[in-house]
Amino acid sequence: MTAEAITVLGLGNLGRALAEAFARAGHPTTVWNRSAGKAEGLAATVASTAAEAVAASDLVVVAVLDNQAAHQVLRGVDVRGRAVVNLTSGTPGEARELAAWAAANEAEYLHGAVYAVPQTIGTDASSILYSGSAAVAERWRKSLELLGKVTFLGDDAGRASGYDVAILSGMYGLLGGFVHAAALARAGGIGAGELTPVLLAWLTDLQPALVTFAEEIDSGSYSGGESSLAMNQSGLATLIRAAEAQGVPFAGLDAFKALVDKQVADGRGEESLARAVESF
Ligand SMILES: NC(=O)c1ccc[n+]([C@@H]2O[C@H](COP(=O)([O-])OP(=O)(O)OC[C@H]3O[C@@H](n4cnc5c(N)ncnc54)[C@H](OP(=O)(O)O)[C@@H]3O)[C@@H](O)[C@H]2O)c1
Repeated sequence: MTAEAITVLGLGNLGRALAEAFARAGHPTTVWNRSAGKAEGLAATVASTAAEAVAASDLVVVAVLDNQAAHQVLRGVDVRGRAVVNLTSGTPGEARELAAWAAANEAEYLHGAVYAVPQTIGTDASSILYSGSAAVAERWRKSLELLGKVTFLGDDAGRASGYDVAILSGMYGLLGGFVHAAALARAGGIGAGELTPVLLAWLTDLQPALVTFAEEIDSGSYSGGESSLAMNQSGLATLIRAAEAQGVPFAGLDAFKALVDKQVADGRGEESLARAVESF
Protein backbone atom coordinates (compact mmCIF):
# COMPACT_ATOMS: atom_id res chain seq x y z
CA MET A 1 0.00 0.00 0.00
CA THR A 2 1.32 3.45 -0.89
CA ALA A 3 1.87 5.72 2.09
CA GLU A 4 -0.35 8.78 2.14
CA ALA A 5 0.91 12.27 1.43
CA ILE A 6 1.59 14.51 4.43
CA THR A 7 2.34 18.23 4.55
CA VAL A 8 4.39 19.97 7.24
CA LEU A 9 4.11 23.75 7.62
CA GLY A 10 7.04 25.24 9.53
CA LEU A 11 10.60 23.91 9.39
CA GLY A 12 11.99 25.17 12.65
CA ASN A 13 13.70 22.66 14.92
CA LEU A 14 10.49 20.78 15.63
CA GLY A 15 8.90 20.99 12.18
CA ARG A 16 12.02 19.68 10.50
CA ALA A 17 12.14 16.68 12.86
CA LEU A 18 8.46 15.96 12.12
CA ALA A 19 9.02 16.13 8.36
CA GLU A 20 12.06 13.84 8.69
CA ALA A 21 10.00 11.26 10.63
CA PHE A 22 7.24 11.21 8.00
CA ALA A 23 9.67 11.08 5.08
CA ARG A 24 11.73 8.33 6.76
CA ALA A 25 8.59 6.19 7.02
CA GLY A 26 8.00 6.57 3.28
CA HIS A 27 5.24 9.20 3.31
CA PRO A 28 5.46 11.53 0.31
CA THR A 29 6.14 14.68 2.33
CA THR A 30 5.58 18.26 1.25
CA VAL A 31 7.07 21.07 3.31
CA TRP A 32 6.77 24.83 3.48
CA ASN A 33 8.60 27.35 5.62
CA ARG A 34 8.28 31.14 5.80
CA SER A 35 11.94 31.71 4.97
CA ALA A 36 13.65 29.71 2.29
CA GLY A 37 16.56 27.35 2.70
CA LYS A 38 15.27 25.40 5.72
CA ALA A 39 14.47 22.23 3.75
CA GLU A 40 18.02 21.47 2.73
CA GLY A 41 18.78 17.76 3.01
CA LEU A 42 15.12 16.81 3.62
CA ALA A 43 13.66 14.04 1.45
CA ALA A 44 10.60 16.18 0.81
CA THR A 45 8.95 18.30 -1.85
CA VAL A 46 9.38 21.98 -1.12
CA ALA A 47 6.27 24.07 -1.80
CA SER A 48 6.68 27.75 -2.58
CA THR A 49 3.54 28.79 -0.70
CA ALA A 50 1.59 27.45 2.28
CA ALA A 51 -1.46 27.13 0.00
CA GLU A 52 0.48 24.94 -2.43
CA ALA A 53 1.72 22.78 0.45
CA VAL A 54 -1.79 22.37 1.90
CA ALA A 55 -3.15 21.41 -1.53
CA ALA A 56 -0.64 18.52 -1.70
CA SER A 57 -1.91 16.40 1.23
CA ASP A 58 -5.00 15.46 3.23
CA LEU A 59 -3.01 15.68 6.47
CA VAL A 60 -1.45 19.06 7.27
CA VAL A 61 0.82 19.25 10.31
CA VAL A 62 1.67 22.73 11.62
CA ALA A 63 4.65 23.55 13.86
CA VAL A 64 5.48 27.25 13.99
CA LEU A 65 6.59 29.61 16.74
CA ASP A 66 3.18 30.37 18.25
CA ASN A 67 -0.51 30.21 17.41
CA GLN A 68 -0.53 33.75 16.08
CA ALA A 69 2.00 32.60 13.49
CA ALA A 70 -0.11 29.48 12.83
CA HIS A 71 -3.10 31.72 12.15
CA GLN A 72 -1.03 33.94 9.84
CA VAL A 73 0.17 30.91 7.90
CA LEU A 74 -3.28 29.35 7.49
CA ARG A 75 -5.29 32.54 6.90
CA GLY A 76 -6.56 32.71 3.34
CA VAL A 77 -5.46 29.14 2.54
CA ASP A 78 -8.07 26.72 1.17
CA VAL A 79 -8.14 24.03 3.88
CA ARG A 80 -11.46 22.46 2.85
CA GLY A 81 -11.50 18.71 3.59
CA ARG A 82 -8.07 18.79 5.22
CA ALA A 83 -7.11 17.35 8.61
CA VAL A 84 -5.11 20.12 10.31
CA VAL A 85 -2.94 18.88 13.17
CA ASN A 86 -1.36 21.81 15.01
CA LEU A 87 1.60 20.97 17.26
CA THR A 88 2.37 24.62 18.04
CA SER A 89 2.46 25.48 21.77
CA GLY A 90 -0.11 27.93 23.09
CA THR A 91 -3.08 28.54 25.35
CA PRO A 92 -6.29 26.48 25.45
CA GLY A 93 -8.23 29.51 24.16
CA GLU A 94 -5.97 29.87 21.12
CA ALA A 95 -6.43 26.19 20.25
CA ARG A 96 -10.23 26.57 20.49
CA GLU A 97 -10.08 29.67 18.25
CA LEU A 98 -8.10 27.77 15.63
CA ALA A 99 -10.54 24.85 15.86
CA ALA A 100 -13.43 27.26 15.27
CA TRP A 101 -11.57 28.81 12.35
CA ALA A 102 -10.96 25.34 10.87
CA ALA A 103 -14.64 24.37 11.29
CA ALA A 104 -15.72 27.61 9.58
CA ASN A 105 -13.37 26.72 6.72
CA GLU A 106 -14.60 23.11 6.44
CA ALA A 107 -11.45 21.52 7.83
CA GLU A 108 -11.06 19.20 10.81
CA TYR A 109 -8.74 20.28 13.63
CA LEU A 110 -6.63 18.39 16.14
CA HIS A 111 -4.28 20.15 18.54
CA GLY A 112 -1.20 18.48 19.99
CA ALA A 113 1.17 19.20 22.86
CA VAL A 114 4.59 17.71 22.27
CA TYR A 115 6.66 16.11 25.06
CA ALA A 116 9.88 15.57 23.17
CA VAL A 117 12.80 17.51 21.80
CA PRO A 118 13.48 17.43 18.04
CA GLN A 119 16.17 14.75 18.54
CA THR A 120 13.71 12.36 20.25
CA ILE A 121 10.80 12.75 17.79
CA GLY A 122 9.88 9.26 16.59
CA THR A 123 11.54 7.50 19.53
CA ASP A 124 10.10 5.95 22.70
CA ALA A 125 11.08 9.16 24.50
CA SER A 126 8.47 11.15 22.55
CA SER A 127 4.89 11.52 23.63
CA ILE A 128 2.17 13.81 22.25
CA LEU A 129 -1.15 14.72 23.90
CA TYR A 130 -3.94 15.45 21.42
CA SER A 131 -7.44 16.89 21.65
CA GLY A 132 -10.00 18.06 19.14
CA SER A 133 -11.29 15.98 16.23
CA ALA A 134 -11.59 12.33 17.29
CA ALA A 135 -12.05 11.43 13.62
CA VAL A 136 -8.62 12.91 12.76
CA ALA A 137 -6.98 11.21 15.75
CA GLU A 138 -8.43 7.87 14.63
CA ARG A 139 -7.97 8.25 10.87
CA TRP A 140 -4.34 9.40 11.12
CA ARG A 141 -3.27 7.47 14.23
CA LYS A 142 -0.62 5.37 12.47
CA SER A 143 1.02 8.43 10.91
CA LEU A 144 0.90 10.36 14.19
CA GLU A 145 2.46 7.38 15.98
CA LEU A 146 5.53 7.91 13.78
CA LEU A 147 6.17 11.07 15.84
CA GLY A 148 5.69 9.61 19.32
CA LYS A 149 3.18 7.98 21.65
CA VAL A 150 -0.36 9.20 20.91
CA THR A 151 -2.73 10.08 23.76
CA PHE A 152 -6.17 11.46 22.80
CA LEU A 153 -7.85 13.57 25.48
CA GLY A 154 -11.27 14.25 23.97
CA ASP A 155 -13.01 16.59 21.58
CA ASP A 156 -12.30 19.93 23.27
CA ALA A 157 -9.46 21.28 21.11
CA GLY A 158 -8.19 23.31 24.09
CA ARG A 159 -7.79 20.35 26.46
CA ALA A 160 -4.30 19.27 25.27
CA SER A 161 -3.06 22.85 25.77
CA GLY A 162 -4.82 22.89 29.16
CA TYR A 163 -2.63 19.95 30.20
CA ASP A 164 0.34 21.59 28.52
CA VAL A 165 0.26 24.92 30.36
CA ALA A 166 -0.23 23.09 33.68
CA ILE A 167 2.64 20.70 32.94
CA LEU A 168 4.86 23.60 31.84
CA SER A 169 4.17 25.38 35.14
CA GLY A 170 5.14 22.22 37.01
CA MET A 171 8.26 21.91 34.88
CA TYR A 172 9.40 25.51 35.28
CA GLY A 173 8.64 25.36 39.01
CA LEU A 174 10.95 22.36 39.23
CA LEU A 175 13.65 23.89 36.99
CA GLY A 176 13.49 27.22 38.84
CA GLY A 177 13.71 25.36 42.15
CA PHE A 178 16.67 23.40 40.87
CA VAL A 179 18.56 26.47 39.70
CA HIS A 180 17.98 28.12 43.08
CA ALA A 181 18.99 24.93 44.90
CA ALA A 182 22.25 24.92 42.92
CA ALA A 183 22.86 28.59 43.80
CA LEU A 184 22.22 27.91 47.49
CA ALA A 185 24.47 24.86 47.43
CA ARG A 186 27.25 26.80 45.68
CA ALA A 187 26.99 29.61 48.21
CA GLY A 188 27.51 26.95 50.88
CA GLY A 189 30.56 25.46 49.15
CA ILE A 190 28.67 22.44 47.72
CA GLY A 191 28.98 21.65 44.02
CA ALA A 192 25.80 21.19 41.93
CA GLY A 193 27.15 17.76 40.96
CA GLU A 194 27.44 16.80 44.63
CA LEU A 195 23.96 18.07 45.42
CA THR A 196 22.05 16.60 42.48
CA PRO A 197 22.03 12.85 43.34
CA VAL A 198 20.91 13.62 46.89
CA LEU A 199 18.24 16.04 45.67
CA LEU A 200 17.01 13.54 43.07
CA ALA A 201 16.66 10.80 45.69
CA TRP A 202 14.51 13.12 47.85
CA LEU A 203 12.39 14.27 44.89
CA THR A 204 11.77 10.62 44.02
CA ASP A 205 10.62 9.88 47.58
CA LEU A 206 8.38 12.95 47.39
CA GLN A 207 6.41 11.79 44.35
CA PRO A 208 3.59 10.01 46.27
CA ALA A 209 2.88 13.30 48.10
CA LEU A 210 1.78 14.85 44.78
CA VAL A 211 -0.75 12.06 44.29
CA THR A 212 -2.12 12.66 47.80
CA PHE A 213 -2.23 16.43 47.21
CA ALA A 214 -4.08 15.89 43.92
CA GLU A 215 -6.74 13.81 45.70
CA GLU A 216 -7.12 16.52 48.36
CA ILE A 217 -7.40 19.29 45.74
CA ASP A 218 -10.00 17.40 43.65
CA SER A 219 -12.09 16.50 46.70
CA GLY A 220 -11.67 19.92 48.35
CA SER A 221 -10.92 18.09 51.59
CA TYR A 222 -7.65 19.12 53.27
CA SER A 223 -8.09 17.84 56.80
CA GLY A 224 -5.67 14.89 56.65
CA GLY A 225 -1.97 14.64 56.04
CA GLU A 226 1.27 15.21 57.84
CA SER A 227 2.44 18.27 55.92
CA SER A 228 0.46 21.10 57.49
CA LEU A 229 0.34 24.67 56.23
CA ALA A 230 1.65 25.98 59.59
CA MET A 231 4.66 23.64 59.53
CA ASN A 232 5.47 24.60 55.95
CA GLN A 233 5.00 28.30 56.71
CA SER A 234 7.72 27.97 59.30
CA GLY A 235 9.90 25.87 56.97
CA LEU A 236 9.58 28.40 54.15
CA ALA A 237 10.42 31.30 56.51
CA THR A 238 13.60 29.47 57.55
CA LEU A 239 14.53 28.75 53.95
CA ILE A 240 13.94 32.36 52.89
CA ARG A 241 16.10 33.58 55.80
CA ALA A 242 18.87 31.14 54.86
CA ALA A 243 18.75 32.15 51.19
CA GLU A 244 19.00 35.83 52.11
CA ALA A 245 21.87 35.14 54.52
CA GLN A 246 23.73 33.26 51.76
CA GLY A 247 23.18 36.11 49.32
CA VAL A 248 20.80 34.24 46.98
CA PRO A 249 17.24 35.39 47.75
CA PHE A 250 14.58 33.98 45.39
CA ALA A 251 11.23 35.67 44.74
CA GLY A 252 9.72 32.29 43.77
CA LEU A 253 9.93 31.23 47.43
CA ASP A 254 8.34 34.49 48.62
CA ALA A 255 5.49 34.01 46.16
CA PHE A 256 4.82 30.45 47.34
CA LYS A 257 5.00 31.51 51.00
CA ALA A 258 2.43 34.24 50.31
CA LEU A 259 -0.04 31.53 49.18
CA VAL A 260 0.62 29.59 52.38
CA ASP A 261 0.41 32.73 54.56
CA LYS A 262 -3.06 33.54 53.22
CA GLN A 263 -4.43 30.14 54.23
CA VAL A 264 -2.81 30.31 57.68
CA ALA A 265 -4.26 33.82 58.16
CA ASP A 266 -7.67 32.34 57.28
CA GLY A 267 -7.27 29.92 60.21
CA ARG A 268 -6.37 26.86 58.11
CA GLY A 269 -2.86 26.31 59.56
CA GLU A 270 -3.50 22.71 60.66
CA GLU A 271 -4.77 21.66 57.22
CA SER A 272 -2.72 20.17 54.39
CA LEU A 273 -0.21 22.21 52.39
CA ALA A 274 -2.24 21.32 49.28
CA ARG A 275 -4.80 23.87 50.47
CA ALA A 276 -2.43 26.62 49.24
CA VAL A 277 -4.07 26.05 45.82
CA GLU A 278 -7.16 27.82 47.21
CA SER A 279 -5.11 31.04 47.54
CA PHE A 280 -5.06 31.53 43.76
N1 LIG B 1 11.76 22.44 19.84
C1 LIG B 1 11.22 21.76 20.83
O1 LIG B 1 11.90 21.04 21.58
C2 LIG B 1 9.72 21.82 21.04
C3 LIG B 1 9.13 20.88 21.90
C4 LIG B 1 7.76 20.95 22.12
C5 LIG B 1 7.02 21.94 21.53
N2 LIG B 1 7.61 22.85 20.72
C6 LIG B 1 6.78 23.90 20.11
O2 LIG B 1 6.79 23.76 18.70
C7 LIG B 1 6.69 25.03 18.09
C8 LIG B 1 7.86 25.20 17.12
O3 LIG B 1 9.06 25.07 17.86
P1 LIG B 1 10.48 25.04 17.15
O4 LIG B 1 11.44 24.52 18.14
O5 LIG B 1 10.39 24.40 15.84
O6 LIG B 1 10.73 26.61 16.98
P2 LIG B 1 11.83 27.32 16.06
O7 LIG B 1 12.96 26.40 15.77
O8 LIG B 1 12.10 28.64 16.69
O9 LIG B 1 11.06 27.57 14.67
C9 LIG B 1 10.02 28.48 14.59
C10 LIG B 1 9.32 28.28 13.27
O10 LIG B 1 8.19 29.15 13.21
C11 LIG B 1 8.27 29.89 12.01
N3 LIG B 1 7.60 31.17 12.19
C12 LIG B 1 7.77 32.05 13.19
N4 LIG B 1 6.96 33.11 13.02
C13 LIG B 1 6.27 32.89 11.88
C14 LIG B 1 5.28 33.61 11.19
N5 LIG B 1 4.81 34.78 11.64
N6 LIG B 1 4.78 33.08 10.06
C15 LIG B 1 5.23 31.89 9.59
N7 LIG B 1 6.18 31.16 10.21
C16 LIG B 1 6.68 31.65 11.35
C17 LIG B 1 9.74 30.01 11.72
O11 LIG B 1 9.94 30.34 10.37
P3 LIG B 1 11.31 31.03 9.87
O12 LIG B 1 12.27 29.91 9.64
O13 LIG B 1 10.91 31.74 8.64
O14 LIG B 1 11.75 31.97 10.98
C18 LIG B 1 10.19 28.59 12.05
O15 LIG B 1 9.85 27.70 11.02
C19 LIG B 1 6.70 26.07 19.22
O16 LIG B 1 5.37 26.46 19.51
C20 LIG B 1 7.33 25.29 20.37
O17 LIG B 1 6.89 25.78 21.64
C21 LIG B 1 8.95 22.81 20.45
